[in-house]
Amino acid sequence: MKIGILSSGGDCPGINATIRGVGKTALTHFGMEVTGIKSGFLGLLNQDYLSLDDEALSGLLSLGGTILGTSREKPFKKLLDGSGDEKPQVIIDNYKKLGLDCLVCIGGNGTQKTAYKVSQLGLNVIGIPKTIDNDVWGTDITFGFNTAVDIATEAIDRLHSTASSHKRVMVIELMGHKAGWITLYAGMAGGADVILLPELGFNINKVNKAILDRAQKGKPYSIVAIGEGLQIDDTKISPASYISKLIEEGTGIETRETILGYVQRGGSPSAFDRNLATRLGGHATELIAKGEFNRMVCLREDKIKSVPLSEVSGKLKLVPPDQDLIIQGKRMGISFGI
Ligand code: F6P
Repeated sequence: MKIGILSSGGDCPGINATIRGVGKTALTHFGMEVTGIKSGFLGLLNQDYLSLDDEALSGLLSLGGTILGTSREKPFKKLLDGSGDEKPQVIIDNYKKLGLDCLVCIGGNGTQKTAYKVSQLGLNVIGIPKTIDNDVWGTDITFGFNTAVDIATEAIDRLHSTASSHKRVMVIELMGHKAGWITLYAGMAGGADVILLPELGFNINKVNKAILDRAQKGKPYSIVAIGEGLQIDDTKISPASYISKLIEEGTGIETRETILGYVQRGGSPSAFDRNLATRLGGHATELIAKGEFNRMVCLREDKIKSVPLSEVSGKLKLVPPDQDLIIQGKRMGISFGI
């Protein structure tokens, strides 16, 4: 069999470990041929490929980013000027020209939706979920998330000493698009005093009260972790700037902001993410060997399984209000601003 593999959407730690997991299992265990498709679906449209032989698959386990490159190309999206209609047919033609038996799509929600649409063209597809945001529906955890949480936690750890030295409030804005998974996990692991999640919204009076209560107890400094997807009234400034201003005005305590940004998704994957990526890649190859197509591999209750792409497509996995870390945090006096 011959398989094609691409990575699409924002990069994250663990994509190369996945490419290795798919490729080495395919080559060594199943005797398949593997073609890497460059820059996501753009490479399939432009016939931009590379052969993933044993040498090309070496040295990938700990490498950040993606050796295939990535793009946010959406081949099913019609442009306002009506162009782009031909792309689905180009995908069919190039898949056939390559002689593929299956296309493996590593990506987040958008990619899994595109993968489902590709399967509806009559092509064989397997999806592998990846994103630091951990918001792909159908899997308990995406690789990239664990690494991003470690990086964000270390950043919060480092804010504590400067916050307490200057008696300041430190607001740190973390990635996650519309989802607050990184903010919740890093906020809790880093000992934030206030955690604001896009899913829960916030009441600034409650945020300020929590900070003033701490000051009254002899802790005139606080750490506030917020998700980048937080809905705020002023769209011209970042949530971090917006919240910092309201805190400083409302409490009279000097407040500073940090937007952690892309360091959260750069660099080497954690050991957990390397192993998750390897397991998911291996299972994707196994499904292809068995002829079980149009599914997304996933992790559920620590078992590697798969779900139909039709079930995943178009859904988002957000933090539920009764998530156990939220309940535990509230019991310990951490404010969620609501
Ligand atoms: O999905 C990963 C992510 O880093 C989000 O956390 C963030 O909102 C988004 O990608 C940034 O996208 P871009 O790479 O297009 O700037």
